Amino acid sequence: MAFALRSSLMLPAQVSSFFATRMMSAAAAATTPRMKKFAIYRWDPDKPGDKPHLKTYEVDLNDCGPMVLDALIKIKNEMDATLTFRRSCREGICGSCAMNIGGSNTLACISKIDENTGKTAKIYPLPHLYIIKDLVPDMTNFYEQYKSIEPWLQRKDNQFGKEFLQSVSDRKKLDGLYECILCACCSTSCPAYWWNGDKYLGPAVLMQAYRWMIDSRDDALEKRLDQMKDPFSVFKCHTIMNCTKTCPKGLNPGKAIAEVKKLVAGIAQKGHPEIDPKGLYA
Ligand code: SF4
Ligand code: SF4
Ligand code: FES
Repeated sequence: MAFALRSSLMLPAQVSSFFATRMMSAAAAATTPRMKKFAIYRWDPDKPGDKPHLKTYEVDLNDCGPMVLDALIKIKNEMDATLTFRRSCREGICGSCAMNIGGSNTLACISKIDENTGKTAKIYPLPHLYIIKDLVPDMTNFYEQYKSIEPWLQRKDNQFGKEFLQSVSDRKKLDGLYECILCACCSTSCPAYWWNGDKYLGPAVLMQAYRWMIDSRDDALEKRLDQMKDPFSVFKCHTIMNCTKTCPKGLNPGKAIAEVKKLVAGIAQKGHPEIDPKGLYA
């Protein structure tokens, strides 16, 4: 707006000189490199004696996309082909580029590079998982736990291959749950999961368990709740809420866990299995 006003008051010669000056300063800014340091966790199990360490790379932000994943791809393509990380969709959908950036678990593809060139960006793998190489964690336990909650529709009538209708309000209950991309940012930010990850299911898996518990088309609520009755599976959550704070999709696994706890407690109070499976004690 300010520019339009100013140019409307200028003579043609002044306009062209104004544009020339603007273009020259833009060109000068583009050619002045903006070098940013990226300190990246490296460890190669195939290199005898290699120990985990940070390796620093310098990237010219003028010649790089805006996201941390852009910088990682540039480093791998142009500086060090051995740098190893996961990525696929580059738009926050697949969950594979989850890592710890600047102290927070997030997705590299939707995490903007901090343009402060005086500050080194520190990048580590997701915390408290075994590492396969560099930024690639071993997700075996996470996926086993996901499998353990049987994350699929279960029907008593055993009728499949047909459409199961759901009311608009029942469908709405799944909002904020089904969008989870299983990136594991939440689970690996959870202190309870760090120390008991073998027995505590963690926020990502528990939120998906809840997603199936409250699905009006599913008939396996009692079985699903039974699985959570021990002291670890869900009750190791101490409601610290790191999980909700870190979720890059803006979801609230902490709240879902609280709901699972209420459902399990309902079973304990009311006796199993007489409860109304879909009344959910409302
Ligand atoms: S709840 Fe959020 S952080 Fe956790 S796995 Fe799902 S998308 Fe990732
Ligand atoms: S609320 Fe529960 S699951 Fe989330 S970080 Fe805290 S202890 Fe972990
Ligand atoms: S590459 Fe798919 S979520 Fe980042």
